Amino acid sequence: MGAVKKAYYRGFQAVFNIGARCLYWRRPIPVSGVGAVRRIPELLKAEKVERVMVVTGPTVGRTLAPRILAELDSAGIAWTHFPEVEANPSVSTVERIRKLYLDSACQGFIAVGGGSPMDAAKAAAARVVRPNTPLGKMAGLLKVMRRIPPFIAVPTTAGTGSETTIAAVITDGETHHKYALMDLHLVPKYAVLDPEMTRELPPKITAATGMDALTHAVEAYLCWTYNTAESIRLAEEAVCGIFRFLERAYRDGEDMEARTEMLIAAFKAGFAFTRAGVGNVHAIAHTLGGLYNTPHGLANAVILPIVLEDYGAAVEKKLAKLASLTDLMTGGGDAEKAAAFIAEIRAMNRRMGIPTGFDFIREEDIPQMVAWALAEANPVYPVPVLYDEARCEKVIRRIIAEA
Ligand SMILES: [Fe+2]
Repeated sequence: MGAVKKAYYRGFQAVFNIGARCLYWRRPIPVSGVGAVRRIPELLKAEKVERVMVVTGPTVGRTLAPRILAELDSAGIAWTHFPEVEANPSVSTVERIRKLYLDSACQGFIAVGGGSPMDAAKAAAARVVRPNTPLGKMAGLLKVMRRIPPFIAVPTTAGTGSETTIAAVITDGETHHKYALMDLHLVPKYAVLDPEMTRELPPKITAATGMDALTHAVEAYLCWTYNTAESIRLAEEAVCGIFRFLERAYRDGEDMEARTEMLIAAFKAGFAFTRAGVGNVHAIAHTLGGLYNTPHGLANAVILPIVLEDYGAAVEKKLAKLASLTDLMTGGGDAEKAAAFIAEIRAMNRRMGIPTGFDFIREEDIPQMVAWALAEANPVYPVPVLYDEARCEKVIRRIIAEA
């Protein structure tokens, strides 16, 4: 990469860092443990919510939501349920939620599920407090600027960290344009981390979503500039938690201690990357999602060790620290310890049936992948090593070669 471009990217990140440090980075109040959803009525009562809008997708609407609705019934809290959030929620879905919310005079939101119901409910909440501003006009950074109604996020996977983020990603149904509302007011007030909500997750999804959380924690940890003492500590704790508990949850879905600890680790990793960003692993993984529908966590799991190896000496010190904290290797030099950390990620993947590479990447798609990945990562992502076309292509070729 040319020196001018490099200086521009690093300068951009340094300026962005100053701006970010002036903001108030709230994080949700976590309520965790077996049966945590039973505490939802008490949270709503504390917020003086008498009627709540419950937002889910169709599957969670049938399987997990009834447990929460029953808790609300027995506590005498009225509810309205919108069970139709699709993957990649559209503007029209958000508007339907908003209308139902207003028509039934709700006073708060509960979003249950993965990313989509949280995105849709957050966007609807933004529209409730910004009745005269269309969603498209709130795309981008800090455009909501008003406190949303009380918002409870209930994740049903331990990985995405959606319950912690400032973003709501929405797709315009007509133009297919995907955009994000990003505002600190969109951070949920509470994150209810109940392992019962993840009990039924099949091992494959447990593994992939868990590795997504690991990638959030590691990429945030390797950030050169936006980190704070708190985001560093939470990233370290998340890595330790995932190393200890992910494979237990993978092997035995009924292990409620492992399920709880994974939800907590994913929550911490979510806060770390909300504050410190992700990096080249995510940028490349997103291109695989777009072109081949590769599940996000699976793509991250495969790409993470390859990118870490490619970063080489630039990340040795930090990876060595993670190797010590996870008790992988406490003696030895940084290079050796960093290599042990990467080797353990590969070993975890192997033990959970995650492949070492992807053979389905088509040669003719590589230029597009490179273009998309660089456009996503540069200049915003505070990566330890800036990628140019040649280096990004080399990594993508490695992903194919390792299959
Ligand atoms: Fe992710």
